[in-house]
Amino acid sequence: MPFDGIVGALPSHSLIITDDNVYPLWAQTFSDPLVIPAGESSKCLRQFGELIEKCAERGADRKTTLVALGGGVIGDLVGYVASSYMRGVPYIQVPTTLLAQVDSSVGGKVAIDMPQGKNIVGAFYPPEAVYISTETLTTLSERQFRNGSAEVIKYGLILDIDLASLLFDCPMTTIDERTNDIVSRCVRIKRDVVAQDEFDRNGLRASLNFGHTIAHAIEQVTGYGPVLHGEAVGIGMFFEAILGEMLGLTEPGTAKWVREYIRRHRLNTEHPSIEQTDDLIRAMRRDKKNESDGIAFSLITRVGESKLVTGVDEATIRSLLTKEWKRYVTA
Ligand SMILES: NC(=O)c1ccc[n+]([C@@H]2O[C@H](COP(=O)([O-])OP(=O)(O)OC[C@H]3O[C@@H](n4cnc5c(N)ncnc54)[C@H](O)[C@@H]3O)[C@@H](O)[C@H]2O)c1
Ligand SMILES: [Zn+2]
Repeated sequence: MPFDGIVGALPSHSLIITDDNVYPLWAQTFSDPLVIPAGESSKCLRQFGELIEKCAERGADRKTTLVALGGGVIGDLVGYVASSYMRGVPYIQVPTTLLAQVDSSVGGKVAIDMPQGKNIVGAFYPPEAVYISTETLTTLSERQFRNGSAEVIKYGLILDIDLASLLFDCPMTTIDERTNDIVSRCVRIKRDVVAQDEFDRNGLRASLNFGHTIAHAIEQVTGYGPVLHGEAVGIGMFFEAILGEMLGLTEPGTAKWVREYIRRHRLNTEHPSIEQTDDLIRAMRRDKKNESDGIAFSLITRVGESKLVTGVDEATIRSLLTKEWKRYVTA
């Protein structure tokens, strides 16, 4: 059973919060949780307020531990509720998507979305514990699995050339006997990065943002939903690898390798929204990594090494989006 060992480890005063896709899968295991509608649209101020009210109605106090059972949406929302309810109560992450297991449950960034932007309100609020069972991934759709694999691919590209080589030769397209090891390896990478730069101050944590300047812009331009986060990261990593080559920072040949690596994981590296150049650039101007001028990118210098680059001028980005990338796409 996926939660053997986890249920018993939860504190006696726990309040489980999950979504209505996850709840029916394990209704027998977790009694009387708070259940909210699944989907990114729940990561909002209204749902935040409703959860605070429900926590109070259930009599949750400072000794109550909130348990976020679900994907990154539940993790981010419950973490933010925990950071505020009664000026902060403990919480535990029990991530059930690949994306949440390798990425969002680790590192203590919690947030909700606003009409003005994604993750625009939030906190650094680490969980007491993260309990991961990769057995939960068996019920995940193929698309959601692929979505999470984009972040796994990213860890290889930014910090772990051995992982990248391993996955290039034998891509991770479904749950198999390697899944536990790969998830653990990704969690360790993220944990080590966060330990050295918890509050995103020295550029190291920003390396986790490879592909994300363009990915977030694609998500925004397409209206959050049609292109899942990991799908957008796949496209973003290819385009940002090209950008690195254009700037003379990335070893020539890397972008082509990156494209093949991503495509072997059945993720796309191109999308029609790339043609919405003005909208994309406008979205990139609001990237949280930006400094006084130009746009910031966390790029790779070669497979396994990354570098934060600020002040990239818009003409270069425009050239990337309108023509340069086409040179890298072969049939
Ligand atoms: N805090 C961070 O550091 C961080 C990092 C990356 C992403 N995020 C956030 O994570 C969110 C995306 O997370 P996600 O991709 O997990 O999305 P999600 O939470 O919406 O989950 C995706 C879908 O899978 C369903 N689901 C969850 N577990 C399942 C299971 N075991 N079997 C079947 N279905 C299951 C969910 O109900 C949902 O419909 C975004 O809001 C993003 O901003 C946060
Ligand atoms: Zn991401």
